[in-house]
Amino acid sequence: MTVVSRRTVLGSTGAAGLAALAPGAMARAAAVGKPDTGPREVTALGDWRFHLGHASDPAKDFSFGASHDTYGKSGDVGTPVANADFDASGWQAVRLPHDWAVDLPFEQFGPAGSDADKTGAYQGFKPLGRLWPATSVGWYRCEIPIAAGDAGRRIALEFDGVSRNCIVILNGFIVGTNESAYAPFRLDVTDFARPGETNVLVIRCDVSLGEAWSYEGAGLYRAVRLVKTAPAHVRQWGARVRSDIQGTAARLTLDTEIDNQGEARTIRLRSRALAPDGTVAAKVLSEPVELAAWSSRTVSQTAAIAEAKLWDLDTPHLYTLVSDILDGDALLDRDTCRFGLRTIHFDADKGFFLNGRSVKIKGTCNHQDHAGVGFAVPDSLHRWRLEKLREMGANAYRSTHHSPSPVILDACDEMGILVMDETRQMSSNAEGMSQLERVIRQGRNHPCVFIWSIGNEEIHRGTATGLRIATTMKRRVYELDGTRPVTEAFNGKFGEGASPVLDVMGCNYFLDAIDPYHATHPDKPMIGTETGSTVMARGVYARDDKAGLVPAYDSEYPRWATTAEHWWTFYNARPFLAGGFVWTGFDYRGEPTPYERWPENSSNFGQMDLCGFPKDNYWYYRAWWSGKPVLHLFPHWNWSGREGQNVAVWVHANCEEVELLCNGRSLGRKRVEHGRHLEWQVAYVPGHIEARGFSGGRQVMVQRRETTGAPARVALTCDRKALAAGDVGLVRAAILDAKGREVPDASNRVHFTLEGDLALLGVGNGDPRCLEPDHADMRSAFNGLCAAVVQAGPGSGPLRIRATAEGLTGGALAFVRD
Ligand code: GAL
Repeated sequence: MTVVSRRTVLGSTGAAGLAALAPGAMARAAAVGKPDTGPREVTALGDWRFHLGHASDPAKDFSFGASHDTYGKSGDVGTPVANADFDASGWQAVRLPHDWAVDLPFEQFGPAGSDADKTGAYQGFKPLGRLWPATSVGWYRCEIPIAAGDAGRRIALEFDGVSRNCIVILNGFIVGTNESAYAPFRLDVTDFARPGETNVLVIRCDVSLGEAWSYEGAGLYRAVRLVKTAPAHVRQWGARVRSDIQGTAARLTLDTEIDNQGEARTIRLRSRALAPDGTVAAKVLSEPVELAAWSSRTVSQTAAIAEAKLWDLDTPHLYTLVSDILDGDALLDRDTCRFGLRTIHFDADKGFFLNGRSVKIKGTCNHQDHAGVGFAVPDSLHRWRLEKLREMGANAYRSTHHSPSPVILDACDEMGILVMDETRQMSSNAEGMSQLERVIRQGRNHPCVFIWSIGNEEIHRGTATGLRIATTMKRRVYELDGTRPVTEAFNGKFGEGASPVLDVMGCNYFLDAIDPYHATHPDKPMIGTETGSTVMARGVYARDDKAGLVPAYDSEYPRWATTAEHWWTFYNARPFLAGGFVWTGFDYRGEPTPYERWPENSSNFGQMDLCGFPKDNYWYYRAWWSGKPVLHLFPHWNWSGREGQNVAVWVHANCEEVELLCNGRSLGRKRVEHGRHLEWQVAYVPGHIEARGFSGGRQVMVQRRETTGAPARVALTCDRKALAAGDVGLVRAAILDAKGREVPDASNRVHFTLEGDLALLGVGNGDPRCLEPDHADMRSAFNGLCAAVVQAGPGSGPLRIRATAEGLTGGALAFVRD
């Protein structure tokens, strides 16, 4: 373990990770050949049958639990579902990722104002949890391919995440259970597999108990894989890459854990680092390694890369480590994982450094659901969301309050986005430590991961118990990784309890406590683990408590929080703060703040709504984070009935000066101050407002909002023009007037129809109160917009989506095949 100085928390590291296969590729192929996994066989288990069970009535739960010894008698779990001859043809055919809660209706949990009503609001009013036993258990079933020739191989199941409390049953035997929805897990099922016969895999998920104070989805919402290896193989996430960069060269330290689940043999480990262009950049062959029967060994190697191509935000170069286990000339097993070469460093005075360069963290916190699909976010949609965040100017992502899907880690590696990787359960009990270990192992080779978070707003954070737990967790993080600092997201109590053990103090909100803490702890680096928290509904410009709508100005926030403008100017002015993560990038279901009541089912915190449509604050961040020219004028100019009344007109811009005009008449020019918006009060008259942006004495940008006419047609657009099989398109349906202007308060219901091998995954509109179903072919527009999430299938031929709305001219959009 490197000794860490108090000031300089972290020296350097490279890393990279996950294992055999980019999960993105897996969604598309069955037995995957890319990257070359040699004799190891990795099969995505994408197609399943699904049925709801019951959390309290065995009669409605396929007899599960009807007899008291369900768990006690191995090989007989007491449900016919596990039998090979069970007829599941009536079950729903589903393809992963799947979230059964999306299909459940919205339900009121209790009378208005009751605790139950508030609980329901926090869950997004989906009937999950102990109040809803009939919809809180889901059964999945599939047959898995295990051929006669697989006898003698090790057979394992890998799960990237299952929501939650699942029991995995293979051929009638319980082969494992897993508690958390967020930690990946692996089960060796060799003893229970029947090569050459029908092998029935059944999974029972029970979401009666949850883990979060927001919507969590339900079921197999991440990838599941069947992995077949030789008895001697590299353990899952077993190859650890660490790097020491010296000048233009990188020295690699490779520690590879090999499990030998068979007879004794002598092997050699050949490790090759492939450069971003695929050429071999370094290669090392171990001396013969004696593997005793049924044993595990770690083989340590070093290798040098002469001309290191560094991983950085704009140049996210990735290497691949190929680990081959050789018996003589025979290749027994091959594991591949990616890594990157970069240095990271936190300084208590100057913040964060990547490759020796100061980088202010401009991050967003995010939950992991999206309009139309809930938790079942396809790989391609995860990437789209990251693209949107990056366009906003974000350079970092915090997956709250749990570790992200490996798809997100892969995408952040590829896109040059930093990740704060967080475990769900802050505990040093066996479960907490197991979750932590899996999260660290999964993430430790990913160059995007720059800091580990061991908790968020924990009740025990300020106590001696919290200190003991954090100390134990950090010790394990250092054993497993040791190249990144450990933080915990504290909401106040900075300096108390677990604080001293943290490498970097994680601050949620509490801006008033930051300077005093820094003054008394000048040697401790600090980061804003969570900050901001403005509540905004897209396209709304007046608070309406009855309707349950908050304005999209950067003005309203819960008592513990603050505005974008306040936190960012505060953090930006303090070099000792490494930067921070705004709460949140996207809206998410549940935690509807400030209206914790029916029918509010979505948060208002996002810079983008549930569909990914930007709210006005998106442009605030883009102006001050992205380096791109921004001039954003709001609100819209449709205020019929408010003639003569003042309307607050705001501009987010990063030019030097902005002039506002109303119907051609100048209302004055204002200087732009860094990090601040501009504001005018304008008496409403129909027509238009116009903002003109000036820099260097000349006009560089202009934006206009015009009073529109009535809805006349629907227009479809998508920023992805070409779709390959599996790719997702986020189709934006806008209601336009006869002159082609978006009608900002339109609420027309739009119907979607598809042509070609294109699936409609779901619909949405970003209205936090909307109770229309996600899985439907129609959606009402909210403030002029709604969305369809479509996914291309493998077939050939044209792909097209059409939209119609009563009384309006329809629209259409064609995709080309990628
Ligand atoms: C924080 C919490 C988040 C979310 C947020 C809303 O205290 O960590 O999960 O609840 O507040 O502002």
